[in-house]
Amino acid sequence: MVDEHADFLIIGSGIAGLWAALRLADHGRVIVITKKDEAESNTNYAQGGIAAVVSQLDSIDSHLRDTLSVGCGLCNRRVVRRVVDAGPRLVRDLIEVGVRFTYRDSSRKITNLDLGLEGGHSAPRVVHATDLTGQEIEAALLKGLTNHPNAELWVHHLAIDLMVAGTGSDRRCVGAWAFDRYRRLIRQIAAPVTVLATGGAGQVYRHTTNPEIATGDGVAMAFRAGVPVANMEFVQFHPTRLYHPKAKRFLISEAVRGAGGILRNSRGEAFMAKYHPLRDLAPRDIVARAIVTECRRGGRACACLDLTHLRPSFIRRRFPNIYRRCRELGIDITRQPIPVVPAAHYMCGGVITDASGETELDGLWASGEVASTGLHGANRLASNSLLEAMYFADVAAASAGPALRRLRQNLPAKPPRSKLAKVTRIARLKHDWDLLHDTMWDEVGIVREQHGLAHAVARLTELARRGDRRLRDDGINADTIEFRNAALVGLLIAKSALTRTESRGLQFRSDYPRTDDRNWKKDTVIRGVLP
Ligand code: FAD
Ligand code: SIN
Repeated sequence: MVDEHADFLIIGSGIAGLWAALRLADHGRVIVITKKDEAESNTNYAQGGIAAVVSQLDSIDSHLRDTLSVGCGLCNRRVVRRVVDAGPRLVRDLIEVGVRFTYRDSSRKITNLDLGLEGGHSAPRVVHATDLTGQEIEAALLKGLTNHPNAELWVHHLAIDLMVAGTGSDRRCVGAWAFDRYRRLIRQIAAPVTVLATGGAGQVYRHTTNPEIATGDGVAMAFRAGVPVANMEFVQFHPTRLYHPKAKRFLISEAVRGAGGILRNSRGEAFMAKYHPLRDLAPRDIVARAIVTECRRGGRACACLDLTHLRPSFIRRRFPNIYRRCRELGIDITRQPIPVVPAAHYMCGGVITDASGETELDGLWASGEVASTGLHGANRLASNSLLEAMYFADVAAASAGPALRRLRQNLPAKPPRSKLAKVTRIARLKHDWDLLHDTMWDEVGIVREQHGLAHAVARLTELARRGDRRLRDDGINADTIEFRNAALVGLLIAKSALTRTESRGLQFRSDYPRTDDRNWKKDTVIRGVLP
């Protein structure tokens, strides 16, 4: 075990971690740890863009209404107001750190930013850098961080658990243990302030748009540390992931439908009008379920997204990345429809934070996809997540920076020691991952019901226990750490879905198809020791 110290420990190098790091580096020494290469994150793959009211034809009230409406009664109105209010300022901040968004003309005025339209938005308001928005943001923030004298970024450092000192109401987070994957050793990183920015958990499912880093580590670590999590049942399935054996995670942005793309079934029918007045731009849960229904009826594995009626030059200019990738795979999207299927995309629930991103555990903040802040409620409005991640990183830094002095004073002389010390190369987990993926996809997927969920909870309880045992008995490596987390997060999702006996937003229960405001207009909160 190697001892390290920082003022601020930030776990994760997506938009939330990097933005918090840039802000906090003015207050003290920052260490950012990240489990793979520096840019590997959900942020890096974001296509559509960041929702913000920058057009004079749009309004904050309209963005607020759209967010509340998609959230199906569970958003915290005050949080929504603050986040959407901050949108234009945060877009300006991104431009200032060097993000090159797409403009309608050469004037480079914020009011001339090119705006995409996505599902659930009543106006075009998605600021983007063609269809590579996340990559552009990630690169600019990494460059900013590298140039900061107070900040270090440690790649291939996988956080294992949070360090918690004290008992009862004096419990506090004092840093984390991390597995250094290059040197194959465990580091104990002590810090008065820890910011969890570990992103989502798409890898819990067999089919996902998320990269391999998204194994729900932050939620699992916080939960094990006794921090409550909320609304884990609200997993967003993106309707249009490319259906191709050689590109299992590639997203076809919702902005493609915003630009006029039409979903068609096996008979070539444009089916969305049957399901929602907004047709192809209905909220994602509705589009995803409609695709599943049409595929079942037609006996097909996928639906098609048709752009062939749009100008080829427009498609190539507006979606260069999607055009190029599909072309590499033998699909010319200007002439052929794109095969698409829904896939797990975004975790709306997570670690509960207050309005400044602080969790219930003193010394621990959370921002980005790992957090449950009250913005999304039961469903997330498209392109609100980059905005949320940046807003909560910003407010977390604003409250954690000044808290440093207080938290530094009471730091225990000796941080607690970890019981996990053995490092191993052995991992025999393929079978367990398969079981997890099958259970989550078949029983905790887009359509759920009591029997399947109860069965899933039993199986996931066993898998979560096995994950713990493997880490303890076999020893630590990336696979044992990630599987332990993914199995626990799967269990939290299944438990929450079983508990909520209604359909609302992203949770669709075929045995409880109605929304039950009388009993369920509230968050699903879980805390304590599971299983
Ligand atoms: P991430 O960007 O995922 O970063 C998490 C970081 O934590 C990574 O660096 C990861 O390596 C690290 N990490 C995780 N666990 C550990 C650990 N145990 N130890 C150390 N490091 C760890 N949202 C939008 O608003 N607009 C879009 O257009 C959009 N498009 C998307 C397209 C795709 C394909 C995907 C997958 C998502 C998209 N989203 C979009 C969602 C959005 O990208 C994410 O919600 C957002 O980027 C999350 O940012 P984050 O900083 O919280 O997490
Ligand atoms: C997309 O481009 O469709 C993704 C947008 C999002 O997830 O918000």
